[in-house]
Amino acid sequence: MQVDEEKLAAYFADEPADAPFSHLDRARLPKHVSIIMDGNGRWATARGLGRSEGHKAGIVALREIITASVRLGIDVLSAYAFSTENWNRPAHEVNVLMHLFAKTFIDELPLLRRENVRVVFLGDIEALPKKTREVFEYGLKETAGHTGMVLALAVNYGARAEITRACREIAAEAAAGRIDPVSVDDKLVASRLYTAGLPDPELVIRTSGELRLSNYLLWQVAYAEFYVTDTYWPDFDRWGYVKALLAFQGRDRRFGGLSKK
Ligand code: FPP
Repeated sequence: MQVDEEKLAAYFADEPADAPFSHLDRARLPKHVSIIMDGNGRWATARGLGRSEGHKAGIVALREIITASVRLGIDVLSAYAFSTENWNRPAHEVNVLMHLFAKTFIDELPLLRRENVRVVFLGDIEALPKKTREVFEYGLKETAGHTGMVLALAVNYGARAEITRACREIAAEAAAGRIDPVSVDDKLVASRLYTAGLPDPELVIRTSGELRLSNYLLWQVAYAEFYVTDTYWPDFDRWGYVKALLAFQGRDRRFGGLSKK
């Protein structure tokens, strides 16, 4: 933890803040970058530390990527922090994570204010422990008027649950006669998802080498580019981020059509 904090401080001290970004074509950045932050546990185990230390180090990495995204002018950064399946972890780890979420959120509010970041949550935060929920609700209110980057945190999120919830809502409105079933289209479905109003992710980054989506934004990533790195999340830094963005800029995005190159 201490080492990462120092590394982070060094980045800001020794270089112009946007030094690694000079390699990027600023005009062709994704509007929405989404991150599956994976490998905190393995990062900690590899160092003989408890898993909680991995999650703490993961927060340092998230802070760096938030700051980098703001500097780059990314419109939306989303991150998978806790899935509906993560409740199956040992109670101790779930408690540590819930406590960390609340503490981190309070600690990072000054950063979110300074950087004009608006926070939204993807997932059912009503079902979170009271303290965590209250801190999140406070953060939502406090940042609601911010006009800069949107930080979408997926907490107690599962894509199947999200799509099912949208279907249930639409079906209820159809049954009540407020929606004609024939008029149900992809725009209407998208408007009932947690991501309503946000652009779809154009780039999904997954750390720690796993090649799967893990029930994350299944609807929204239909045309996203994927980038997987073996780096564990706590070691993912702005240089790793630039590599992912460069890979994105090298992709030929056809959306089912033909190459324009
Ligand atoms: C995956 O690593 C990571 C998580 C389950 C939690 C990530 C959360 C943060 C970094 C903090 C987010 C902060 C806020 C305020 C929402 P893992 O435990 O699955 O690692 P492993 O696969 O190596 O076991």
